[in-house]
Amino acid sequence: MGKTLLVTGGAGFIGVNFCNYWLNRYPNDQIIALDILSYAGNRHSLEQAEKNDRFQFVTGDILDQALVEKLLREHKVDDIVHFAAESHVDRSITGPDLFLETNIIGTHSLLKAARQVWLTEQTEERHRFHHVSTDEVYGSLTADDPAFTETTTYQPNSPYSASKASSDHMVRAYHHTYGLDVTTSNCSNNYGPFHFPEKLIPLCIINILSGKPLPIYGDGQQIRDWLYVEDHCRGIDLVLTSGRAGETYNIGGNNEKANIDLVKSLCSLVDARFADEPALKQRFPDAPASNNQPSDTLITYVTDRPGHDRRYAVDASKAFKELGYEPAETFEKGLGKTLDWYLANENWWRTVLDGSYRDWIDEQYGS
Ligand code: NAD
Ligand code: TYD
Repeated sequence: MGKTLLVTGGAGFIGVNFCNYWLNRYPNDQIIALDILSYAGNRHSLEQAEKNDRFQFVTGDILDQALVEKLLREHKVDDIVHFAAESHVDRSITGPDLFLETNIIGTHSLLKAARQVWLTEQTEERHRFHHVSTDEVYGSLTADDPAFTETTTYQPNSPYSASKASSDHMVRAYHHTYGLDVTTSNCSNNYGPFHFPEKLIPLCIINILSGKPLPIYGDGQQIRDWLYVEDHCRGIDLVLTSGRAGETYNIGGNNEKANIDLVKSLCSLVDARFADEPALKQRFPDAPASNNQPSDTLITYVTDRPGHDRRYAVDASKAFKELGYEPAETFEKGLGKTLDWYLANENWWRTVLDGSYRDWIDEQYGS
């Protein structure tokens, strides 16, 4: 008999990749994906998972405690893997309220449901609540600072990171106070398939193909530690299955890049693909490479993000020592795979951009 996982935010970028990863890796396990289908959640992305009879999708809100309790009871859920969140820093700057509602109150609502069903009603079984968090809770590093460890002081700078930090504390408190079995992972910037095109890498891929400016905030020297999304999924797997209760684990890519360097690498990669595959010029006539121009001519420096964190870097040695976690994908290969995915899935990003994927979902599943 396999396990049953409740995956919140299962229709978002990392949630979709995680569901596909888990169904493939654990052929006896079941997944219930709970997602409110916000602008960032797309049931179309779960097409592969939905083909599997071990997968079930539920449209719903993590703030609906009664619904979550019902799912935990009826499906005899073993573990929760909690991805659901508002995740975009720029949106948290223009509209912080929803971030507090979803990320803090939403996480607390899930914790209350887990406590009620797992600690009050089902006292015999072993359960785990895994909380997916971010390295952004630690704040910003200077060029010479050592990378974030699990004992680095929390210093969140944006409404997004402050809301995630707050949720991390609630998860910790439910372990300390009520004895809920929890783990938390704090991960660096992910990239890969199904990434919503408001984030740096997919935004730049699509803008290059469409001949639109590549907006670089400030001087472009901000550094992020990039991790291929499948490596994050494997890291979560290791923490969920072998991590110690009440512990937090950093997950990183050991791969620091300045934004401007990353965008220039992406430009060169696209130019090389267009040189290798002449058919791309017909498909994307507005791309600079279709007009004998290098893609980096699109780079445009724009006003910096307010409070922009300068550098993130993750020390994942605890996860390596305790769990054997190591990123497997190199950045060069991972970025190439990501570009190829966006080239092969033009329909996905076009329907995400114009919102028409919602019509497809209505046709498939009813509204
Ligand atoms: P995403 O924005 O792509 O997806 C979030 C999902 O949560 C969406 O499908 C959305 O519909 C769903 N959701 C939002 N509010 C909900 C609610 N009230 N009830 C149910 N579902 C709701 O985000 P992502 O990039 O996949 O990130 C997933 C998690 O991983 C987040 O908690 C984020 O903080 C964390 N994280 C992300 C990164 C990254 O680089 N993307 C890095 C580290 C940690
Ligand atoms: P983003 O993908 O939004 O992730 P995060 O803010 O969580 O790190 O941004 C990654 C980096 O790229 C960040 O330093 C902000 C910068 N950035 C730009 O320079 N231009 C853009 O258009 C976007 C979306 C991000």
